[in-house]
Amino acid sequence: MTIGIGLLGLGTVGAGVAAILARPEGRHPLVGELTLRRVAVRDLARPRPVPLAPELLSTDAEAVVDDPAVDIVVEVMGGLEPARTLILRAIAAGKPVVTANKAVIARYGEEIAAAAAARGVYVLIEAAVGGGIPIIEPLKQSLGGNRIQRVSGIINGTTNYILSRMADEGAAYAEVLADAQRLGYAEADPAADVQGGDAADKIAILAGLAYGGPVPRAGIATEGIDRLDARDVAYADQLGFVVKLLAVAEHCGHSDDGTQQLDVRVHPTLLPRQHPLAGVHGVNNAILVEGDPVGRVMFYGPGAGAGPTASAVVADILNIAGIRQVGGADAGLDPLLAASSWRRCALIDGALSRHRNYVRLRTRDEAGVIGRIGTCFGDAGVSIQSIVQFEGSGDGAEIVVITHEVQEALFRQALAAIETLAAVESVAACLRTL
Ligand code: NAP
Ligand code: HSE
Repeated sequence: MTIGIGLLGLGTVGAGVAAILARPEGRHPLVGELTLRRVAVRDLARPRPVPLAPELLSTDAEAVVDDPAVDIVVEVMGGLEPARTLILRAIAAGKPVVTANKAVIARYGEEIAAAAAARGVYVLIEAAVGGGIPIIEPLKQSLGGNRIQRVSGIINGTTNYILSRMADEGAAYAEVLADAQRLGYAEADPAADVQGGDAADKIAILAGLAYGGPVPRAGIATEGIDRLDARDVAYADQLGFVVKLLAVAEHCGHSDDGTQQLDVRVHPTLLPRQHPLAGVHGVNNAILVEGDPVGRVMFYGPGAGAGPTASAVVADILNIAGIRQVGGADAGLDPLLAASSWRRCALIDGALSRHRNYVRLRTRDEAGVIGRIGTCFGDAGVSIQSIVQFEGSGDGAEIVVITHEVQEALFRQALAAIETLAAVESVAACLRTL
């Protein structure tokens, strides 16, 4: 039985998928059943890294979706529109969809899932988070018996690649970002990577799966690495930490109507050097899932790039092809694979979020400053784990404080008091600490 694939996009990921389909030998026998029928691109004249018959290519993406020879639509064009409309068009035509588009799923996942459930087709998204790491299916299926307490991870390959090379080689930010773009890691607009939006899309998706209902994407507190100061990375290193862009979704309880209260956020974070996520370097991603009763499970591997992402896309295609092969398309949707929502999720007020903090203060270098800063923290009920003075530029000093875990509102209250101290010139940086 041959299964016709319609590919929307032939860039980094699309070309990776086409390369796997073109060479099925040595892979699962079902790969040999998949045939690339049509491919939508923007520019027919652009050179392609995979040789394809020119008549397969089209600039008419709707025609690719509508083609009767296309059984499964694979959306790897990126962006919100026309990707969302094309996905909905495929669903309306009763065609299953595989997509790597986390931006669309994080914003329109509820609409797409409802349309797919009503039409009885699968929309699979393994490639949307973690590149080549299987994390979507494990969350939907293998860990389904757990109550998930926390999902945290490094889920943007570009920023991890940038941070790793800056730390290891002292490479310049702009130069490493250009390399990440050349290697196919970065989004079409790399602002999504460096400002944290891509990681926020991905943690919204993971949280939705882990906690059983869509998470409001717009409410996720997001901070990227674009304003990270190399000085803080160096101080963190001296204090025994590495700095990573972390995405976290944490269960904080539930309200009377059963709505799950979640703390979901993305920010540069100081990780103790011995933390399992601290050793994740380069384009690699890792996702740490903490559940009851499983404990801690970590998923690790390449988080971006053509081959790893195409591996995840083809896995989803094979899932659908396997169901078709046993005639399961008529048996209704498998509720685990289809991942329907079964409850509501809401985000807690950021002021209630609890975490440890790193704060760098520029101060005058004079007697009593550390004591007065300590008093401000103490008065707000913020317990200090360590306070260290580094030599600042000129006559000043730089004081770095690491707090114990505290509610964000109390930490902000302490900072407001510190800012009024005459000896404190500025609060130069605030970062989260694990
Ligand atoms: P890309 O290299 O920019 O490729 C996009 C492809 O889509 C290109 O072939 C482009 O055509 C085509 N395209 C864009 N708009 C189109 C339109 N309106 N009509 C027809 N074709 C159109 O992007 P990518 O890196 O492969 O990423 C694709 C998707 O996968 C995105 O959602 C991204 O977030 C996701 N993703 C990427 C990675 C990664 O490592 N790159 C990993 C995981 C997920 P032309 O070639 O003619 O310009
Ligand atoms: N731009 C994304 C990243 C691609 O760097 O992680 C993988 O989703």
